[in-house]
Amino acid sequence: ALISLRQMLDHAAEYGYGVPAFNVNNLEQMRAIMEAADKTDSPVIVQASAGARKYAGAPFLRHLILAAIEEFPHIPVVMHQDHGTSPAVCQRSIQLGFSSVMMDGSLGEDGKTPTSYEYNVDVTRRTVEMAHACGVSVEGELGCLGSLETGMAGEEDGIGAEGKLDHSQMLTDPEEAADFVKKTGVDALAIAIGTSHGAYKFTRPPTGDILAIDQIKAIHQRIPGTHLVMHGSSSVPQDWLAVINEFGGEIPETYGVPVEEIVEGIKHGVRKVNIDTDLRLASTGAIRRFLAQNTSEFDPRKYLAASVKAMTDICIDRYEAFGCAGNA
Ligand code: G3H
Ligand code: 13P
Ligand code: NA
Ligand code: ZN
Repeated sequence: ALISLRQMLDHAAEYGYGVPAFNVNNLEQMRAIMEAADKTDSPVIVQASAGARKYAGAPFLRHLILAAIEEFPHIPVVMHQDHGTSPAVCQRSIQLGFSSVMMDGSLGEDGKTPTSYEYNVDVTRRTVEMAHACGVSVEGELGCLGSLETGMAGEEDGIGAEGKLDHSQMLTDPEEAADFVKKTGVDALAIAIGTSHGAYKFTRPPTGDILAIDQIKAIHQRIPGTHLVMHGSSSVPQDWLAVINEFGGEIPETYGVPVEEIVEGIKHGVRKVNIDTDLRLASTGAIRRFLAQNTSEFDPRKYLAASVKAMTDICIDRYEAFGCAGNA
């Protein structure tokens, strides 16, 4: 059944677990997410980005999610719009039937230029007013995703700040977070703690100076009633990087957010954990390996089944690690 983000995260807070929010662009990702949720009895957040709408088209995406709800009626599903860049974008998603939208006012309408605090409050507050009138939840973002190692946001084609960021922009301030939540009325708040989108988050396994889990604790202490969201939270599995590189890929050494650090965040108010890159890596690794090992196969269903299996395994791991399993 379709439910709002607020309903799902209130339950997660009450029972102390976090929910992975997986990005969806195609049938294979959707199937992997739902089969993993079905196997582990987990609630589901699926989110669609502007890039997903461009790739699949809004009607296909919408019906993909509705088909998942039809096939798995016993699983609660949040249909979330990832990184909306304006109230108008959010409004269109609400009209399409999404039960939750993210108004990312930390960046301008281009998805690249950092904005002022006042701008962020204004667009987020207006979105909340409109969405709540329709029973739809809103996620806001305060602070800019970016690497504390390099000051860069990383993502080249998706959502991410262009140019260099200051250290303070990349760490959400607890006091400002309290003011932001009070002024906007958001249901969930995405915070910046040194993570970034994509596979290239850290050049070494992250330590506290470049992945600021302590910042989560400080924010949670200040606003204990607010559901926190971690973006850029793929773990960048080293085993899938090895498979990709063994079968013709060329991905340089890189590290993501360790699952145990996310689990620490969940102990301190993190309720939604955004994951896209891990499913991309698993899918690519599985397809590269399948095609290399089955050189006469040409039925896409064969290699896409390998991709679904690899993605399902990642989803099961995250549902279990985040304490989400058993809560559908
Ligand atoms: O915002 C980042 C997500 O990973 C979505 O990526 O814009 O390439 O679909 P995308
Ligand atoms: P990753 O690139 O780490 O998977 O993050 C996804 C995300 O934050 C989507 O909003
Ligand atoms: Na989001
Ligand atoms: Zn994100």
